[in-house]
Amino acid sequence: PFIYFITPTHFRAAQKADLTRLSYTLSHVPNLHWIVVEDSDELTASVAEILKRSRLPYTHLNARTPPTQKMKYSDPNWTLPRGVDQRNSALLWIRNQLAGVKNGVVYFGDDDNTYDLKVFEEMRKVEKAGVWPVGIVGGMFVETPILAENGTIIDFNAVWKRERPFPIDMAAFAVNITLILSNPNALFSFDVPRGYQESTFLENVGIHRYNMEPLAEKCTKVYVWHTRTEKSKLSKEMIEKLTKKRGFNELEA
Ligand code: UGA
Ligand code: MN
Repeated sequence: PFIYFITPTHFRAAQKADLTRLSYTLSHVPNLHWIVVEDSDELTASVAEILKRSRLPYTHLNARTPPTQKMKYSDPNWTLPRGVDQRNSALLWIRNQLAGVKNGVVYFGDDDNTYDLKVFEEMRKVEKAGVWPVGIVGGMFVETPILAENGTIIDFNAVWKRERPFPIDMAAFAVNITLILSNPNALFSFDVPRGYQESTFLENVGIHRYNMEPLAEKCTKVYVWHTRTEKSKLSKEMIEKLTKKRGFNELEA
């Protein structure tokens, strides 16, 4: 099955660095279509160049987060959900362009995570929705489903908001494209409590927590890490200069 790898991305000093690294990872993966959605008013040349150089099949879109939903440069990272409109734009593209496709898997891959190539082979095994451990997330070394002897999911080890229907990170799961196509109303939203993006989406495509398919050797292996790139401390002058160049206040808006 083809992998549709959806990456929301936004401008900051490390954007090009993070996307370059990700493109080098993805360029090792056969049968992968990279859907990159910029959080901007228009497509930028610098992202276009990375996509072109990757030699991957790709789709380049943009969807700007409305200013009221956009965090300030100085905000702590958790104040508002990120990637909402960008992932939705990719889902709409899939529903418009890939209607009728039966063989494919959709994954939400952020631009700053670290991916072992083995995670892509796990994704291809997904029947409805697959799940696996994620490293360095939710205040844990590894956040993972907990399996019974017979291999079924009985719990999750998450500590942060463990009462969520799916106490897992965006990087922890992939779903069959048919679920995306047959549930056209399943979208991300600014109107869900913090930490509930994953749960709301999975519920909306008709998945229940115990019938996800545990992958990565019965959830004993970590093939993706929620690494975060340190926010660069730019000078006020540099922020103003970049802001001017891009025509709107991207760093502060
Ligand atoms: C965690 C999860 O891993 C994300 O999947 C989830 O979207 C996020 O929390 C959330 O709560 O919304 P975290 O590392 O804190 O991730 O988030 P970022 O990496 O800063 O952002 C997630 C993705 O959205 C990235 O690919 C980033 O480039 C993009 N993004 C971020 C935008 O498109 N616009 C923004 O203003 C900020
Ligand atoms: Mn991140």
